[in-house]
Amino acid sequence: MYYVILSNGVRMPQLGYGVYQISKDECEHCVLNALNVGYRHIDTAQSYFNEEEVGNAIAKSGIPREEIFLTSKVWIEHYGYEETKKSVYESLRKLKTDYIDLMLLHQPFSDYYGAWRALEELYKDGKLKAIGISNFYPDRMVDLCSFAKIKPMVNQVEAHPHNQQTEAQKWMKKYDVHMEAWAPFGEGRGGLFTNETIAAIGKKYNKTVAQVILRWELQRGIVVIPKSVHIERMQENFDVFDFELSDDDMSVIASLDKKQSSFFSHTDPNMVEWFVKMVEERKNNKDHKKEKKNW
Ligand SMILES: NC(=O)c1ccc[n+]([C@@H]2O[C@H](COP(=O)([O-])OP(=O)(O)OC[C@H]3O[C@@H](n4cnc5c(N)ncnc54)[C@H](OP(=O)(O)O)[C@@H]3O)[C@@H](O)[C@H]2O)c1
Repeated sequence: MYYVILSNGVRMPQLGYGVYQISKDECEHCVLNALNVGYRHIDTAQSYFNEEEVGNAIAKSGIPREEIFLTSKVWIEHYGYEETKKSVYESLRKLKTDYIDLMLLHQPFSDYYGAWRALEELYKDGKLKAIGISNFYPDRMVDLCSFAKIKPMVNQVEAHPHNQQTEAQKWMKKYDVHMEAWAPFGEGRGGLFTNETIAAIGKKYNKTVAQVILRWELQRGIVVIPKSVHIERMQENFDVFDFELSDDDMSVIASLDKKQSSFFSHTDPNMVEWFVKMVEERKNNKDHKKEKKNW
């Protein structure tokens, strides 16, 4: 395993396992499989509704807690100082742990300054070992870095060969914020898994397209968290430490950059409205209201 050292000295495994879009029913089993394969870094979020199952898997695995790097994310609905604090305690309960290695603010909307102050306090109390942000484009990241007491240690953003985020990565380096890639395969959009250029590079090393993509991201210094519900793919995605892409290969993959999201832009006002609507709908959900009463 490779590790990166965050600005506060915390050591983070550079390859992790993401659990977005893994159902409650499948999640415990998948995380147990991932831990058996060798992953020691799990990425979940309040909004994935599977923190409880991640916590069950970690507890059942018998692996000492300190050997696992656990990330979660605060959802927009829980932003603001008080709500964020409560929501982090709820995450700790669900994950069955007394600390989280990295807690991120999931989106750059609503009262993220209030939410950040809560994370700063929880960090000082030792409940969170590192704190960071996600989907903060350079403008919002520079803003937060400039006015917060504690600078984020990580920014998790969409990054893969079709959206490489080279400009954003420069800004992160300037502010000592470590870049982490979500959707390191772009979920396969734009035919990424069958890309002929990447496949040809893979042939030279006897590696698959997925392995070349992950290796390319690792060599760029980025933390990656590929998701798969299939154990063979978890193994494939983990088997990326025994080869090295040449500078030429790195440049060829760099030339595939389309410099735009394969999903959507967080600066598109239509998307902001979509997020607002989602937050409203969840707030009004009966089960959700019931659950929040117990916080
Ligand atoms: N912060 C954010 O806003 C944000 C947003 C999105 C994601 N994330 C995080 O990033 C993690 C990864 O992103 P993601 O899940 O969206 O996308 P991804 O990891 O780029 O792609 C996952 C997709 O690729 C398939 N796959 C995985 N390995 C493969 C392989 N070796 N060969 C062929 N297909 C393969 C998976 O299918 P199967 O599962 O069927 O194998 C799944 O459909 C998430 O799980 C989550 O933790 C964060």
